Amino acid sequence: MLNMRISRRAAVMGATAAAAWLASPARALVQAAGRLVVPGFVDELIARMTLEEKAGQLSLMASAWGGGKATALNPPSEGSSFPQQVEEARQGLLTGVFNGNGARMARILQIAAVKDSRLKVPLMFAADIIHGHRTIFPVPLAEVASFEPDLARRTAAAAAFEAAGAGIDWTFSPMVDVARDQRWGRGVEGGGEDVLLGRLFADARVRGFQGDDLKANDRMLACIKHFAAYGGAEAGLDYNTVDMSERTLREVYLPPYKAGFDAGALSGMASFNEISGIPSTGSHWLMTELLRGEWGFQGFIVSDYTGDEEMIPHGFAKDGRDAARLALLAGVDMSMQSGLYRKHLPELVRSGDVPLATLDQSVRRVLAMKAMLGLFDDPFRRIDEKRENARSMLPVNRSLAREAGRKAIVLLKNDGDLLPLPRTGKRIALIGPFASGQHDLVGPWVVYGDDARAVDLATGVRAELADKASLIVVEGSGVEEPLAGGIEQAVAAARQADVVVLAIGESQGMSGEAQSRTEIVVPEPQLRLAEAVAAVGKPIIVVLKNARALALQGAVADAPAILVTWFLGTETGHAIADVLFGAYGPSGRLPASFPRKSGQEPYYYAHKTTGRPNPPGPRQDYKAQFRGIPNSALYPFGHGLTYGKIEYAGLMLGSPTLPMNGEIMVGARITNHGDRAADEVVQLYIHDRTASVTRPVRELKAFRKVALAPGQSEVVSFRLSASDLQFIGRDNRPTVEAGMFDVWIAPSAESEGVHGSFELLA
Ligand code: NOJ
Repeated sequence: MLNMRISRRAAVMGATAAAAWLASPARALVQAAGRLVVPGFVDELIARMTLEEKAGQLSLMASAWGGGKATALNPPSEGSSFPQQVEEARQGLLTGVFNGNGARMARILQIAAVKDSRLKVPLMFAADIIHGHRTIFPVPLAEVASFEPDLARRTAAAAAFEAAGAGIDWTFSPMVDVARDQRWGRGVEGGGEDVLLGRLFADARVRGFQGDDLKANDRMLACIKHFAAYGGAEAGLDYNTVDMSERTLREVYLPPYKAGFDAGALSGMASFNEISGIPSTGSHWLMTELLRGEWGFQGFIVSDYTGDEEMIPHGFAKDGRDAARLALLAGVDMSMQSGLYRKHLPELVRSGDVPLATLDQSVRRVLAMKAMLGLFDDPFRRIDEKRENARSMLPVNRSLAREAGRKAIVLLKNDGDLLPLPRTGKRIALIGPFASGQHDLVGPWVVYGDDARAVDLATGVRAELADKASLIVVEGSGVEEPLAGGIEQAVAAARQADVVVLAIGESQGMSGEAQSRTEIVVPEPQLRLAEAVAAVGKPIIVVLKNARALALQGAVADAPAILVTWFLGTETGHAIADVLFGAYGPSGRLPASFPRKSGQEPYYYAHKTTGRPNPPGPRQDYKAQFRGIPNSALYPFGHGLTYGKIEYAGLMLGSPTLPMNGEIMVGARITNHGDRAADEVVQLYIHDRTASVTRPVRELKAFRKVALAPGQSEVVSFRLSASDLQFIGRDNRPTVEAGMFDVWIAPSAESEGVHGSFELLA
């Protein structure tokens, strides 16, 4: 209950309240959940274990049961069979498996561990439950577009209810990597480009997955990944080098991980990348000095999939033995998939290259975690074949998926109030590779969801129309290949229609792991389709399918209405139709800026000014800008329209000055002049004019979603204190400096809204 109240408050009160909560005594209580409790029997057990059994407790393998989509989510693994895994469980050489196929598999392995093994240590079952188990919710980035962290808490809780019902104790989620380069394919799994949103959604998701009681059979352990700065890959190329200052690391990339650990997550995953020359998996500074020393993390860290072994190609470890040694000594407690720990740790300890105490400490963390998950009390507490099905895709979860879906949709443009569409009296041509069919609905990173149970766009639209014959559905083009005769059919359909809904964009295979793109555009054959359909002259609503911000061009950018619909999961078609026909007014906001051109990437709103900033207005030479385009986003972070007509007016500042230990009120009057209700996401940004370290042009510090009826006007106010103005100083520690600050209350990161300034007093 406490969690729900707090998260909701964080959602509606914005960052100021969230910051107060982060420091509050109430939070300290909840945070006690982030304490590792080591029961007395754990050390007795460790004392009885052989070195091989200890290394086994630190070895996690992909389930060899096979089947499902799991096998396609990671590089193929060789040489393991399910009977062999059962044997390993009997011998105590396995701590658990991941991405296996449900309760039946888990029961077989768990019996082998707790009935047939020498010490009867239970296994732990993990999975990539990233945005749902069987009911699939919007991809995480889409959910962040809701600007409603509590929604993410609720969908995470619903995912835990289904997944824990199917034998899963531990999810490899949330992924909280800040992503500022949209070429990177994995931004879709995270919180977007902004630090504040990243923190709030990390916090909410951990609370949703874990709840208050990790023993509960509808909760599971969360895993903060990928630690650290995986999203900072050069050129957005997955797995690529990360090279950044410690200041940027601490100010931009680390805070969401910290928020997730502070919310009580007791596991984390090391990232594949190196940071400034040191692979995360081998970084003692990261895994031990910072994470455990500075942040007080007590849980355990797992490597990513063969991440320890990959220190060999990184050129950091000589061989497998060296890799296992470096990873364990750095502070990575558990090895995923390489098998290097169980192969080398016993000998590494015998030879003295790894202290026994270090090995024991990692085993202690893992066993304590199994105890906290209730597995020593009842190893079968989450394994129940009947419950697995009984909990699957309940109506309450489907309706949550629909709610999350519609809240994630962002209306970029709505010229002439083309949207919402009337339910009768218009012939609609629904055109494009994503118009119909149960593909590309659930999005990347789905292990257990069933495409066949997801609602496609045509079905959702048809359900809204009284006259079903008023809808014509035409594919028009493949995603990356043209379709023979497709354009002709699409043009003919557009001619017969009053309005065109053009469902185009990226397939789900174009994002996710190892799916970086050099050009973040709608693929060429679909652009040709859009041009041909536009030439017919009917009004076009573009319904974009995307897992990243895109650089829109030509007829797509010029369409009078554009909806960003991401990958919305099981209820995709219903959620989009709700917005198209106005049953729900769009309220989503971009969590990542849409650039004008791919070549602007990495593009993010919180960039620095440079010494030669580019002023608005006609182009001037010798300024920081690209040839031919303005140095701004096509649609910036925070942008999103409603079906209302929203005006920002009258900035209110409680005082021209803010004392170091005081607060300042900043408010504005927000009015809906339209004739439709609107949920407006009111955003507060600041800019520190002069500091000992240069500061971004804007930083989001608070936001609030307000419901405004037609004609309604409300004063929306926020409280800022000096802690909201802090940054990482020259010594890489948080600091606050007196001086002048700009402040905006605005509908996006690049709109003026209302603007003022105040002085932070020394
Ligand atoms: C590799 C991915 O980087 C990670 O996010 C995932 O959890 C593991 N594979 C396991 O599937």
